Amino acid sequence: MGKKIKMVIAGAVMSSMIATNVYAFTDDTLHRSSISFIEKIVSFITSSSNKDENVSHDFSMYNDIYYYDSNNLSRYKSFSAKNPNVSPEDIIWLVNANLDRNFYDKAEKIENTEDEIILVNKYNYLPNDYVPKNLVDIENGKQATEATAKAFEEMKENAAIEGLSINVVSAYRSIDYQKNLYKQYIKRDGKELADTYSARAGYSEHHTGRALDIAAEDMDMNNFGNTQEYKWVAENCWKYGFIIRYTEENKNITGYQSEPWHITYVGTDISGVMHNQNISSLEEYFVKYVDYSVNN
Ligand code: DAL
Ligand code: ZN
Repeated sequence: MGKKIKMVIAGAVMSSMIATNVYAFTDDTLHRSSISFIEKIVSFITSSSNKDENVSHDFSMYNDIYYYDSNNLSRYKSFSAKNPNVSPEDIIWLVNANLDRNFYDKAEKIENTEDEIILVNKYNYLPNDYVPKNLVDIENGKQATEATAKAFEEMKENAAIEGLSINVVSAYRSIDYQKNLYKQYIKRDGKELADTYSARAGYSEHHTGRALDIAAEDMDMNNFGNTQEYKWVAENCWKYGFIIRYTEENKNITGYQSEPWHITYVGTDISGVMHNQNISSLEEYFVKYVDYSVNN
């Protein structure tokens, strides 16, 4: 999906500014964020309910797209009517990723937790008793999966050659830990705002041991987006199997405000495809390369 399309979607989403300073807890510390406002993220359905539902593309023309799913035809039509500026090709994958639903609506429990790649988002959560296998120490007392730790170490070494310092602030978090964290955020900011920057328990990528919050020398992840380290990571992390998971561009897909510091290990095969095909969200990757495949 091109940048333009994403901007169209973003434009369709009603947003408002909250004129207050925002604080974010890291793993165990309260940090003052450099962010002075947060855009409230409202679901596609809510935001676009005033559109004319009678205008729709003829989706039967698109049934040769390999990820077209005839079971979703009425949803394609309805979502397309609400988002007339989005191309049918994009409507199809967005609906297949459930983005026509409100976040958390009909969320599904992830069954294949040992798969090479897991999609954890506001529609897919991990079972309560889930603990990833192969957790190892990474740094600063944190843990991550062995593959994640290895890839990070390599990336860190190469960044250091460039005179850059990248450090882990938060890595694996248990479901119980996240429960408490999310509760504290609600207490401070209310549920609606907390949901724009914190995952609910079970819905956090940090449970997988494959997500890392990183920072430069100052260990301030909220400042990471302003650093040379961030610039380098944004350009190079795919070579080590990482993606920046919560970008400004994708906030209406992920449901989270931009988090330049949150990287997710997906392996170099996947990060390479995403890089080469210009796929910026794991949601889009999943529809096009995991849930549906060209050979089906
Ligand atoms: N801040 C990210 C979304 C999390 O809580 O997992
Ligand atoms: Zn994170």
